[in-house]
Amino acid sequence: MPSDAHPDKSEKILILGGTREAAELARQLVGQGLDVTTSLAGRTKEPAPVEGKLRMGGFGGAEGLAAYLKAEGFTRVIDATHPFARNISANAVKACDIAALPLDIRTRAPWQKQPGDLWTEVASLEDAANALPQNARVLLALGRQYLDAFLSRTDCHFVIRMVDPPESPLAFTSHEILAAKPSSDPNEEAALFRSHAITHLVARNSGGHGAYAKIIAARKMGMPVVMVGR
Ligand SMILES: NC(=O)c1ccc[n+]([C@@H]2O[C@H](COP(=O)([O-])OP(=O)(O)OC[C@H]3O[C@@H](n4cnc5c(N)ncnc54)[C@H](OP(=O)(O)O)[C@@H]3O)[C@@H](O)[C@H]2O)c1
Repeated sequence: MPSDAHPDKSEKILILGGTREAAELARQLVGQGLDVTTSLAGRTKEPAPVEGKLRMGGFGGAEGLAAYLKAEGFTRVIDATHPFARNISANAVKACDIAALPLDIRTRAPWQKQPGDLWTEVASLEDAANALPQNARVLLALGRQYLDAFLSRTDCHFVIRMVDPPESPLAFTSHEILAAKPSSDPNEEAALFRSHAITHLVARNSGGHGAYAKIIAARKMGMPVVMVGR
């Protein structure tokens, strides 16, 4: 990485983004006068603005990404994607190998269980659904593409928090949608748990600070968390 003291102004950097950390990195590097392009998959309808250049959409696999890197003359790639976005991270490794470019991996480390955390750690969404007790009232802090595994739990009530509301109705027996971003304040998260009489939280172990407030809130309230690992 170029250092703050001596940024290499000839660098042309592609950040594989879609996270707060990626946006922060773009801001820092643009501030150093570097040529920075952030790439987003294009899943979010109204992505937060990023500094520098922006491109959207898939590349067409590792080969497509390698061809793009060469055609655009990039000198470095930074993988700052979400830790659960595995395909793009694997593609970045292959593409940088093909294009003979350096790759900086800046994906987040997972959260570690702390004293007071009541986590049931599971390896899949299906295991998470099975880990819920009967008649639980569950906050699902998961994206749209991760919900179907919970449809089988017709005994539970699901409060589903999503950034963009779903385009078609969800097939849960009992659910409500909260179209909202997670709060970074544990007290606000705790207030939300109380106002919806939540008994269990289901979360993926994403790491980082942005989504950690709900984990702190659950710890303070002694609320069980079903934590889906990577
Ligand atoms: N997975 C999550 O939980 C999560 C949470 C928050 C944010 N995000 C962000 O959302 C994006 C998509 O996540 P995902 O889990 O669907 O990823 P994924 O399964 O790893 O990627 C699926 C395909 O989407 C395209 N893609 C993914 N990230 C891209 C990027 N930054 N720029 C251009 N194309 C990208 C690639 O298509 P091609 O093969 O055609 O290049 C990739 O093969 C990522 O950028 C990630 O940082 C993901």
